[in-house]
Amino acid sequence: MDAPNPHTFPREGDIGKILLNEETIQNRVAELGAQISADYQGRKPLLISILKGSVVFVADLLRAIDAPVEIDFMAVSSYGSGTKSSGAVKIVKDLDRAVSGRDVVLVEDIIDSGLTARYLLNYFRSQNAASLQICTLLLRDDPDREPIDIKYVGFELPPAFVIGYGLDVDQEYRNLPYIAEYARA
Ligand code: IMP
Ligand code: MG
Repeated sequence: MDAPNPHTFPREGDIGKILLNEETIQNRVAELGAQISADYQGRKPLLISILKGSVVFVADLLRAIDAPVEIDFMAVSSYGSGTKSSGAVKIVKDLDRAVSGRDVVLVEDIIDSGLTARYLLNYFRSQNAASLQICTLLLRDDPDREPIDIKYVGFELPPAFVIGYGLDVDQEYRNLPYIAEYARA
């Protein structure tokens, strides 16, 4: 028998149930963009995308906003490798410019424990942002999460670990155009 090809994509057995297909995601992102365009009329929001998971989402969201908008990036480490949370948040790449006086929209791929978002909100608050909102593509159902005010939510998600549309497992599968359960979690 031939050895399995390590470059087969996706690897057999990695992809579980597809939870959100490409069309469903694109339609919802268009709605979120329209909502943000309407809510920020006469202002110029600063989207702050958290690397790397929210890159795919923010690229689509940005183009769904029909108004002046700026973008910046931060990288934080909140997860170790694999699917387990390390609990710690550390700034790996800071903003290009401080956010004082800006209308900040924190753009996340997924809010799970809320630890990352909470830390970043405090950080932006300490830099005197004029306003702060969260836009997350996915919100994990978690009755135990400390309450956190999230204005824009794409989809609520059951507990499964998911991949695709920016979300990774050990840096892989961000390029899937859909969101699926990771079958080996
Ligand atoms: P939180 O601080 O627990 O809210 O974690 C948020 C971060 O954990 C997200 O920005 C993701 O990078 C990562 N994360 C949480 N759940 C998943 C998942 O199901 N798939 C991929 N990454 C995840
Ligand atoms: Mg992330």
